[in-house]
Amino acid sequence: MVAVSLRLYSGILVFVQAAAVYARQWNDTGKGSIIFEEAWTIPAFIPQISKTVPPVGQTITELEANLLDIHNQRLAGMDANGVDYVSRSCLKFQKRGSTIVEMVLSCASPCIQGISDQATAEGMARNVNDQLAAEIANNTVRFGGFAALAMHNATTAALELERAVKELGFLGALINDYQQSGPDNATLLFYDQPEYDIFWAKVTELDVPVYLHPRTNIQQIQNLLYGHAPWLKGPSQEFADTLSTHVMGLFVSPTSPLLLDTLGNEFRRTSGESMIASFELFSATHTQTDSELARQIPAGMPMLRNLSSYWATNLLETTSGNFATELFNFHVQQFGLRNRILYSVDYPYVPMEQGTAWLNGLTETMIDEDLLALKRGLAVELLRLNR
Ligand SMILES: *[C@@H]1O[C@H](CO)[C@@H](O)[C@H](O)[C@H]1NC(C)=O
Ligand SMILES: *[C@@H]1O[C@H](CO)[C@@H](O)[C@H](O)[C@H]1NC(C)=O
Ligand SMILES: *[C@@H]1O[C@H](CO)[C@@H](O)[C@H](O)[C@H]1NC(C)=O
Ligand SMILES: *[C@@H]1O[C@H](CO)[C@@H](O)[C@H](O)[C@H]1NC(C)=O
Ligand SMILES: *[C@@H]1O[C@H](CO)[C@@H](O)[C@H](O)[C@H]1NC(C)=O
Repeated sequence: MVAVSLRLYSGILVFVQAAAVYARQWNDTGKGSIIFEEAWTIPAFIPQISKTVPPVGQTITELEANLLDIHNQRLAGMDANGVDYVSRSCLKFQKRGSTIVEMVLSCASPCIQGISDQATAEGMARNVNDQLAAEIANNTVRFGGFAALAMHNATTAALELERAVKELGFLGALINDYQQSGPDNATLLFYDQPEYDIFWAKVTELDVPVYLHPRTNIQQIQNLLYGHAPWLKGPSQEFADTLSTHVMGLFVSPTSPLLLDTLGNEFRRTSGESMIASFELFSATHTQTDSELARQIPAGMPMLRNLSSYWATNLLETTSGNFATELFNFHVQQFGLRNRILYSVDYPYVPMEQGTAWLNGLTETMIDEDLLALKRGLAVELLRLNR
């Protein structure tokens, strides 16, 4: 179906050919990695990332080119990277170079969450989703999309998610932490508030995952918190601190749909697969947090279970950008591997080769079923690739 729609971007009328329905085709090869915290962007968002520090050995120009590209160096890298695991019964622990079979792309942080004006943000979200869908339409065997969403209004966000999933063939959404808003860019919207119940209800209805991804803070917060040590901005500290607080807010919040459904049942979803975050963010044990939070219950905190418990049932984690085997083993021990932890890379901020080298190292110690679950099995289920 092709139609012509009329949209409003900041007061300018733009005619866009849209509403095309993109059918996904995906072949389950049974091997190769599937990764999905992978950044892509459009030229309009390049100024947002101008202060990003590129990977060692790369210039910012190269990073920008890698973010804009899909079908060239990105696909070549996918072909050259990955581990295909030959069953032990055939040939014990044989490694051979193979592919990252599928990469799910999403708009590089902060994307829409960095646009304060609601009408502009909503127009840009549709625009960026339409562009991504059009770009990957000829190769959905290798590329999928996560929707970008303006989060100013939970109803509008829910409707755009629905459009992206049903019309564009997207596999879920990726949201870059809080939505900034307001004329001073300093009203921060967190999705643990009751007005977002309608959004989480749509996520549940569509049965797609939402990836909660970090963002850099607004300038006012950066000045106050990181002015004394600006090098701690970004992935070294700022991301973990800011996103962890948002994610934990979803668990301690009174009316979060993750806690109570409309019938008052704890958990709307038994599978608890609606949220994903990268485990680089959560490196500490929860024992102390659990006991500290327990003290808040007499003070009125409505949380129904402790943090460790929610973590183990309602959150999935990816290895994205963090290939520390000790941390991985710790999380496996705390939360279990098969149900909770998935491989991802964070390309192009992190080279695909780093992930490949780490996976190769794991073949020494992991059984093939576990490795397969990590690098693709759980992703196939979570993203409903076979449906
Ligand atoms: C996917 O499978 C279909 C049907 O078996 C086949 O025609 C097509 O060539 C495959 N595509 C790729 C990229 O493997
Ligand atoms: C898809 O289209 C792009 C150009 O937009 C092209 O570079 C790429 O090779 C195409 N891929 C396939 C599988 O046809
Ligand atoms: C959000 O958008 C919906 C649909 O356009 C509208 O009915 C509702 O009033 C808006 N909510 C707020 C808080 O502005
Ligand atoms: C808010 O952000 C907009 C868009 O980047 C900018 O034009 C405006 O000056 C900012 N306002 C303040 C008060 O910083
Ligand atoms: C957290 O809750 C789980 C499930 O109720 C329980 O087994 C565990 O002991 C609790 N942990 C702490 C540190 O309170």
